[in-house]
Amino acid sequence: MRIAVVTVVMVMCATVAHADVRPQRDFNLQKFAGKWYRVGLAYDSPKFVPYRDKLKASVGIITVLPNGNANLTMWDATPAGCRIKVYQYEKTNVAGQFTYFSTRHNMVKDITVVSTNYTDYALVIKHKVFHREYTQVALYGRSHTVRNSVIQRFRAFALSKGFSSDSILTPPPAENCPPSASGH
Ligand SMILES: *[C@@H]1O[C@H](CO)[C@@H](O)[C@H](O)[C@H]1NC(C)=O
Ligand SMILES: *[C@@H]1O[C@H](CO)[C@@H](O)[C@H](O)[C@H]1NC(C)=O
Repeated sequence: MRIAVVTVVMVMCATVAHADVRPQRDFNLQKFAGKWYRVGLAYDSPKFVPYRDKLKASVGIITVLPNGNANLTMWDATPAGCRIKVYQYEKTNVAGQFTYFSTRHNMVKDITVVSTNYTDYALVIKHKVFHREYTQVALYGRSHTVRNSVIQRFRAFALSKGFSSDSILTPPPAENCPPSASGH
């Protein structure tokens, strides 16, 4: 009986620990829409280590759907060329938190917009498994450069979530990705 109680308390603590990642207060999806550059990425997957110095800033466009969900169209400069991908973010009952189905990992993941001021930057955290284990922290900017103080906040946040400083990257802009001919 006593063990059961301890287990319950531990599960509750784990839930509370997750709850420290709160979304931006009064998150406004309409204001969040539009073009973003992923100017910072904290990603500690061992498989990604060889690509760290080749990473370029991806470009994303958030489109708000009438039902309150959002599409993220993302252009990634990869060794195989510029790749476009659409992520379908489904709203949850918490503004600023979304779920999406990762076709690559075949599972539902969730992302939280931790902090944004809409006109300059956004700090976004992504979980590996629904509600658990952070895999990525991304810093988005409305332009290729964000203020140094914002970069420092991104670094401090990623470090506080357990990312090593080696895994915290601020990639340079991608060349011709999205291709300039596409009009973006
Ligand atoms: C959102 O993305 C889905 C999947 O790619 C697509 O079918 C749909 O048309 C997109 N919606 C908008 C408004 O872009
Ligand atoms: C957003 O952040 C940037 C950089 O810190 C700042 O210059 C700008 O005034 C902020 N905008 C708003 C609307 O708070």
